[in-house]
Amino acid sequence: MSTTHEYIDRNEARFTEELFEFLRIPSISADSKYRADTRRAADWLAAKMKEIGLTVSTHDTPGHPIVLGEWRGAGAGAPTVLVYGHYDVQPPDPVDLWHSPPFQPEIRDGRIYARGSVDDKGQLYLHVKALEAAMKTHGRLPVNVVVIAEGEEEVGSANLMPFVTEHADRLACSSIVISDTTMVGPDTPTIGASLRGLTYFEIRVTGPTTDLHSGSYGGAVLNPATALSRIIASFHDENWHVTIPGFYDDVHTAPEYREQIRKLPFDEAAFLGETGSPMLVGEKGHTTFERIWVRPTCEVNGMLSGYTGEGSKTVLPSRAMAKVSCRLVPDQDPEKIQKLFVEHVRRVAPAGVSVDVVIMHGGKPWRAKLEGPLVEAAARALEKAWGRPVIYAGEGGSIPIIPEFERVLKAPALLMGFGLPGENAHAPNEWMSLACYRKGTHAAAALLEELGKG
Ligand code: BES
Ligand code: MN
Ligand code: MN
Repeated sequence: MSTTHEYIDRNEARFTEELFEFLRIPSISADSKYRADTRRAADWLAAKMKEIGLTVSTHDTPGHPIVLGEWRGAGAGAPTVLVYGHYDVQPPDPVDLWHSPPFQPEIRDGRIYARGSVDDKGQLYLHVKALEAAMKTHGRLPVNVVVIAEGEEEVGSANLMPFVTEHADRLACSSIVISDTTMVGPDTPTIGASLRGLTYFEIRVTGPTTDLHSGSYGGAVLNPATALSRIIASFHDENWHVTIPGFYDDVHTAPEYREQIRKLPFDEAAFLGETGSPMLVGEKGHTTFERIWVRPTCEVNGMLSGYTGEGSKTVLPSRAMAKVSCRLVPDQDPEKIQKLFVEHVRRVAPAGVSVDVVIMHGGKPWRAKLEGPLVEAAARALEKAWGRPVIYAGEGGSIPIIPEFERVLKAPALLMGFGLPGENAHAPNEWMSLACYRKGTHAAAALLEELGKG
């Protein structure tokens, strides 16, 4: 074992303590009430990166700041690794369902429970600690490193997109490393093979100027909640195919990828158990992994209309609203899908209400290149940390900046995720495995060593 790895083991307790400090800051990017806290998380991270010897700058944006940490001591001839992660978190709602407060991290059963533990503060911070271990042990890093952390990943990365283009020279690198995904199981180190894209909408339906007595007016005035339900019901057929015309036109799954997916072992009972649903339901003719990795979807994320308080109230609501998003797969284009979606909603909207569709954000789908020195180095690093062979698995979620990084910086991206099934990301009781935090730190340090060998 090299001394970098001994350093990681020796400092395990402190690394966890520091992560706890990070987790106590409620950096909820979606909610403007937490703007100052989100800034505080950026400043906290910047200070920690400075402490370990990176040159740190914080860049304000119209949204939340971007934190950049640089170390270029390996010289112009050495590779440069760009590590990306996000310090913002999803809202903790519904807060009542948490067993411990979302911003008071707590260890139970070898898991760190807190909002942002696995998504993505723990996975981001373990890279910072791997850098510390290498710096403190050798006084230098094996490669040049740029760490870029944003505070808007959970709301679409709108301000990071132009930043990457503007600072393309400064961000120039030979590989992009991201830990913001999930392993297939605790003993199976996983390299991410694909991500889905996303496009997000808010549908606003307005009927009468005010809520009305449903006895005096119901039956004579179209109910916006009913109109919205009809629109939502029009998104799928009885086989759960999406019915938006043209939606599947650009869906192209490489046959060898489909083959690879079919070969992966799938534990249906365990997957169903994670969800707590009565049964698995999805697009007919596709396996579960296909449904979540290589098939596009259209999902309602939230709905609001009328009276939802205690008891009953007879009312015809004046408005109804739904937040809807589509997950996209290669080669669907978010802008094209936005157009098809808006046209479809307009076409099916019943007369008697007005319907607006607000386009919120979008990101492209992504497929990893699973050969080349970066993936090979990562496989060796992960195998060292886990003592087990790696697996290549798809991911159903989205990280919109990744395709942009690859396009602008012309370097390959690697998904080396340390989440676990059932981690409750975006849900109450989010957790990160302590073992994954520790082994992930070892893997991140080993990856730098591997990449430094040239
Ligand atoms: N870490 C996730 C992405 C992810 C989720 C990867 C599940 C693999 C499996 C990321 O923080 C995330 O939640 N992204 C959003 C992006 C959106 C807001 C544009 C997502 O996927 O909903
Ligand atoms: Mn994330
Ligand atoms: Mn997330």
